[in-house]
Amino acid sequence: MTPTAPPALPPDALAAVERALEAHRGRPGALLPILHAVQDALGYVPPDALPTIAHALNLSRADVHGVVTFYHDFRDAPPGRHVVKLCRAEACQAVGSDELVRDVCARFGTELGHTRADGAVTLEPVYCLGNCALGPSAMVDGELRGRVTASGLAAELPDVPAAPPGGAS
Ligand code: FES
Repeated sequence: MTPTAPPALPPDALAAVERALEAHRGRPGALLPILHAVQDALGYVPPDALPTIAHALNLSRADVHGVVTFYHDFRDAPPGRHVVKLCRAEACQAVGSDELVRDVCARFGTELGHTRADGAVTLEPVYCLGNCALGPSAMVDGELRGRVTASGLAAELPDVPAAPPGGAS
């Protein structure tokens, strides 16, 4: 049987993974900081990086995969030019976040948890941003927003054209 070749990471991704591993080498509980460092550098955690990380930490691939998929913050693909996180927790639901999610998905032409096909925007769920009194809340490219509306988000992201009829993704 032919041995399986190790997954090929692009050079920039490999360099980011190696930097993250080196920065946390020998530290207990290094997995989460390493994953965060990789995502900070690349915008996502490439699935092909998991075997390298697992090997360096003497963990199984399943262990690392389990952590990556457990935390909503980790992406397995590059995000769009803009990342909009919409709060799905209870306090925001009580003030209309379900309708907000519906309207934002329709306006931007993609679903929560997806990146639009043209790469213009990624919509992600988040579970409480600590801004409950001003819900529905969102995070737009890392900036907290309250009393969010779909039209307000559209105005804030003028370089994201409205979805064509039938959606863009
Ligand atoms: S429930 Fe949405 S910010 Fe707390």
